[in-house]
Amino acid sequence: MPTILVETLAPREAYRLFVSLVIPRPIGWVSTLGADGTRNLAPFSFFNAVGGPPPTVMVSIGRRRGQEKDTLRNLRERGEGVVHLVDEHLVAAANLTSGEWEYHLDEFALAGLATIPSTLVAPPRLRDAAAAMECRVTQIIPVDGTEYTLVLGRVLCFHLRDELLAADGLVDARALRPVARLGRDEYTTLGEIFALARPVSYPR
Ligand SMILES: Cc1cc2nc3c(=O)[nH]c(=O)nc-3n(C[C@H](O)[C@H](O)[C@H](O)COP(=O)(O)O)c2cc1C
Repeated sequence: MPTILVETLAPREAYRLFVSLVIPRPIGWVSTLGADGTRNLAPFSFFNAVGGPPPTVMVSIGRRRGQEKDTLRNLRERGEGVVHLVDEHLVAAANLTSGEWEYHLDEFALAGLATIPSTLVAPPRLRDAAAAMECRVTQIIPVDGTEYTLVLGRVLCFHLRDELLAADGLVDARALRPVARLGRDEYTTLGEIFALARPVSYPR
C-alpha cells in the first residue's frame, strides 16, 4: 500500500492526485454579475452543500495566473449568484464556459444558453437548467496555504423543473441526471442507487 507524503510530490502532482481521489464531486455552475453589469458563468467542482438550515453551499475558487477569477470578483462585488446543478444534458456547455475568457466575454452567449431573470437576486439564471439555487454570499474565506478562496452562500430560493420533484417533495435523483467530476478530464453519471436506514439511536 503506497504511502505518499505530499511534500515528496511536486505541488501540481499532489493536486492532480488529490482531485482524482476525492470523487465524485458535484458541479456547481455559477452565474454572477459584476458591479458594471458584466455577466459571467463558470463551473466549479469544489462545490457542495455545507450545512443548514438555512441551506448553505460552498464553492472554492482558485486563481488564474495570480489573478482572481471573474466569478470570485463578481461574488465580492455583488454578493449574489445562482448555482445550477450540471446534468447530462448541459455538461458539454458547462465545460465550454470553463474557458479562460476575458472578463467581458459573455459565457451565456458563447455557449448559446438562454437566461431568465432570477426571483430574488440580480444575476440571471439558465432557462434550461433542471435545477438552480439563488444564493446570497455569507462568507468569503481564503484557504490557508493555497491560492483558493472559499465562498459560502445561503440558498434563498430553489428552482426545480416539475419532473424533478418526487411525490415526497424531494428531488428524484434519476430525473435530475447529475454529472459529477472525477480526476483527469473525466466525469461520471449516477450509478446504482440504494437505500440504507439510519441506525436506531436511543436517548442517553
Ligand atoms: C467541471 C469543471 C470544474 C471546475 N471546478 C473548478 C473549481 O472548483 N475551482 C476553480 O477555481 N476552477 C474550477 N474549474 C475551472 C473554472 O471553471 C475556470 O477557471 C473558469 O474559467 C473560471 O471562470 P471565471 O474566470 O469566469 O470565474 C472547473 C472547470 C470545470 C470544467
